[in-house]
Amino acid sequence: TVIVVDFGAQYAQLIARRVRECHVFSEIVPSTMPAAEILARKPKAIILSGGPASVYEPGAPDVADGLFELGVPTLGICYGHQVMARALGGTVANSEIAEYGGATVALADPGMLFDGLPAEQAVWMSHRDFVSEAPTGFTVTARTDVTPVAGMEDRARGLYGVQFHPEVLHSEHGMEIMRRFLYEGAGCRPNWTMVNIAEESIEAVRAQIGDGRAICGLSGGVDSAVAAALVQRAIGSRLTCVFVDHGLLRKGEAEQVEKDFVAATGVNLHVVDAQERFLAALAGVTDPEEKRKIIGREFIRVFEAAEREIVGESDEPVQFLVQGTLYPDVVESGGGTGAANIKSHHNVGGLPEDLQFQLVEPLRTLFKDEVRALGEQLGLPAEIVWRQPFPGPGLGIRIIGAVDRERLDILREADAIAREELTRAGLDREVWQFPVVLLADVRSVGVQGDGRTYGHPIVLRPVTSEDAMTADWARLPYDVLQKISTRITNEVREINRVTVDITSKPPGTIEWE
Ligand code: XMP
Repeated sequence: TVIVVDFGAQYAQLIARRVRECHVFSEIVPSTMPAAEILARKPKAIILSGGPASVYEPGAPDVADGLFELGVPTLGICYGHQVMARALGGTVANSEIAEYGGATVALADPGMLFDGLPAEQAVWMSHRDFVSEAPTGFTVTARTDVTPVAGMEDRARGLYGVQFHPEVLHSEHGMEIMRRFLYEGAGCRPNWTMVNIAEESIEAVRAQIGDGRAICGLSGGVDSAVAAALVQRAIGSRLTCVFVDHGLLRKGEAEQVEKDFVAATGVNLHVVDAQERFLAALAGVTDPEEKRKIIGREFIRVFEAAEREIVGESDEPVQFLVQGTLYPDVVESGGGTGAANIKSHHNVGGLPEDLQFQLVEPLRTLFKDEVRALGEQLGLPAEIVWRQPFPGPGLGIRIIGAVDRERLDILREADAIAREELTRAGLDREVWQFPVVLLADVRSVGVQGDGRTYGHPIVLRPVTSEDAMTADWARLPYDVLQKISTRITNEVREINRVTVDITSKPPGTIEWE
């Protein structure tokens, strides 16, 4: 494994992903983890991430004592580079001039890290502090006009530092530098591949569950689907999946789970039709947080009732609950940073703490793109594997105003048209998500077929994103937008106006509620 020491969340995750793209397993640990604990994980290499702090700030995160004496090849990036320089007797200075964005580094000495790479290369920088003097024993390998030590290494001790961000795609040879560090510098082998991951995960699930039974809540999303498919491979019919149809699904979604998923996996599926119950609980409710709470609460009740039925079905008790928890959730909840609660996210399939099951979380070391690759490896259909994220509370939070069956039907039709046209234009994978929102309490005047109309507007919210933490509005081609607009106003009678949301996140969120 390669240990990525986290000095600032987003940086560490990106580095960990890049290491895995080099087919080497990587794990993120907090910068407060003691060196002995890091060593206990038997790392082949250590990477110190970038971070937002200045090494001289009071309380700035520091590197664990003794880390550079472990004899493990280590690469410092940006803040990690500065921490390394300072800890080993070099000098870090504060500059008047910051260096943000693209820069060109010139190689002073290719050393190990830059061996075979061009003497000048475009890199991505984001710093104000800089290493002005490398520690004794280090060779300066690269510089820019404003940064005298943009790269340094002490090959004998296996220590390497770069001021720029090789993990960012704008650094043109970044991946080669990562590979050189991992393969040449640390002797890692590229054997972390999807075939191995699938086999190892299936084995691990088998070992955990033994001859016990498990249940899994399916949401229709890719995470729970892949987790279920994996566990099904491991324990076959001793897994039962539960799918709650809360009536807030998009067109064709329930059928997709019932038919496509079962066809691909042969899994035991237990479908609960709880539409009436959810609609009754939501009647007249307009406050977004209240809607979310009601949906979350009802979901748990329905799921628990289903679970009791399944558990009671046979003499053998069900001891395991499968969940599609992903690595970013694990890192974030372990990071202990008090992120503000912007919306109370309700994870369909997610259950409260006080359950009597042991959790099986076969995806907890994986990133989303890896989960998709694993889903393909397990033979799941592309419609499931490449499905865009859809919130647990479903269309319930895409109707602005009270939720009822008629409004849901209107939104379902409009949403189906928008998705169909996006697919037809071949843009499914470029667009991260494409919510369609019904402004159910707003009406505007229109004219259709010589008559006055007084209908509802609909909002198209196509966004691009890497991880849903930030997002930008997707620049859909005008002809695609026009097609969607014409079709929705022609085919959905209650809609007489189509608008596009052009707000990034922040300040907007992806969903409207
Ligand atoms: P926002 O609207 O906060 O959404 O920008 C970020 C991402 O999270 C999804 N989302 C949810 N997913 N349960 C979920 O499973 C929820 O309650 C929930 N609310 C929002 C949203 O679709 C986007 O991908």
